[in-house]
Amino acid sequence: MKIDTVRSDFPQLRETVYGKPLVYLDNAATSLRPLSVVREWEDMSLKYNSNLHRAVHKTAVDATERYESTRAAVAAFVGAEFPEEIVFTSGTTQSINLLASCLEGSGFFSSGDEILVAESEHHSNIVPWQLVSMRKGLKIKVIPVNSHGEILVETLSELLTPRTKLCCIAHISNVLGIVNPIREIVDICHANGTLVLVDGAQGIVHADVNIREAGCDFYAFSGHKIYAAPGTGVLYGKKALLENLPPYMGGGEMIESVSWEKTTFAPVPGRFEAGTQNISGTPTLVPAIQTCKILRDREIAKEQEDIKAFMAKSLTSNPDITLYGNPEDPAKKIPLYSFSVAGVHHEDLALILDKMGIAVRSGQMCAEPLMNRFGVTGMLRASFAPYNTLKEAEYFIESLNKAIKMLK
Ligand code: ALA
Repeated sequence: MKIDTVRSDFPQLRETVYGKPLVYLDNAATSLRPLSVVREWEDMSLKYNSNLHRAVHKTAVDATERYESTRAAVAAFVGAEFPEEIVFTSGTTQSINLLASCLEGSGFFSSGDEILVAESEHHSNIVPWQLVSMRKGLKIKVIPVNSHGEILVETLSELLTPRTKLCCIAHISNVLGIVNPIREIVDICHANGTLVLVDGAQGIVHADVNIREAGCDFYAFSGHKIYAAPGTGVLYGKKALLENLPPYMGGGEMIESVSWEKTTFAPVPGRFEAGTQNISGTPTLVPAIQTCKILRDREIAKEQEDIKAFMAKSLTSNPDITLYGNPEDPAKKIPLYSFSVAGVHHEDLALILDKMGIAVRSGQMCAEPLMNRFGVTGMLRASFAPYNTLKEAEYFIESLNKAIKMLK
């Protein structure tokens, strides 16, 4: 079975917790690491360790080549036109903060301008825009979701005005697991002259991302959710747009020339990568991308479909369970299930499931406004990765039912 071969590359899947085999269903928070990623990190640390873009010695040249070929690999993976459109960051949060800061610094926003943010966004795609809005006197308008969790695209025609400079939207919500209609939203926004940032923290894991087809202006994601080393991430931006942005942080390597009279800056993307970069971590994106490709195998995709059918049926047939993110078309949903159970606290359930070896997330899922939208203080979330099996899904439901019985 392909899935067994794939699983053998993730040593943590062989761990036990409280004497039970670990069933890791907290993949939306962070994925597990395959050996290939750990080995790349080891190679970069033990064989190629040297600062980047600076010295002429062999090790420095090798390290720089590995770092820059990672940029080309990421560009190819997401369908970017040029490698320079890929800016390395520490993750989605830094990518979005970088963009917010640079757009602000470029004079892109004027007082009274508007930013659209979807109601289903996580804090990383809300708070950076609130910070800029506070400083620049901008207005944030919220694109609502319906009771199924689907974005109400039709509200865009009312929300967009000549002052709407930017629309910020997740490719896939980390709470609802719904794939948003990015192309449609981009087309509507572009017709209004509004730029679009897509938060791809979950999208990069579960969708075949082709940025040029999506048409968005910016796309942000983290390495650690696609099996790469933590502390790695990407901001994609259309080259012409990035070229109009000022630097993010000042320091070494983001400059062209420094003098007391006048400092000039490096071309993109170096202008956004000040200081020593994540020498060992960033190149792990290469084996991580390879892992993503392997995990898109047909046999594995079939198992994912079986998991989705089983989970949807099991959760929606229990009258005590409310599932958040339940689109009519199942193809719009990834195997990510946030729900609440009547009369039972999500943290209590998570603690009991933990004792059964199951790792799930509980709480506000870094998306407090969405919790308020659904009138809950928190949810329980089981998020699957392509290395999870139907057997694990069955064990999860069986354990969940036992835990509910214990708490009711
Ligand atoms: N935003 C991450 C999550 O969904 C951390 O858990």
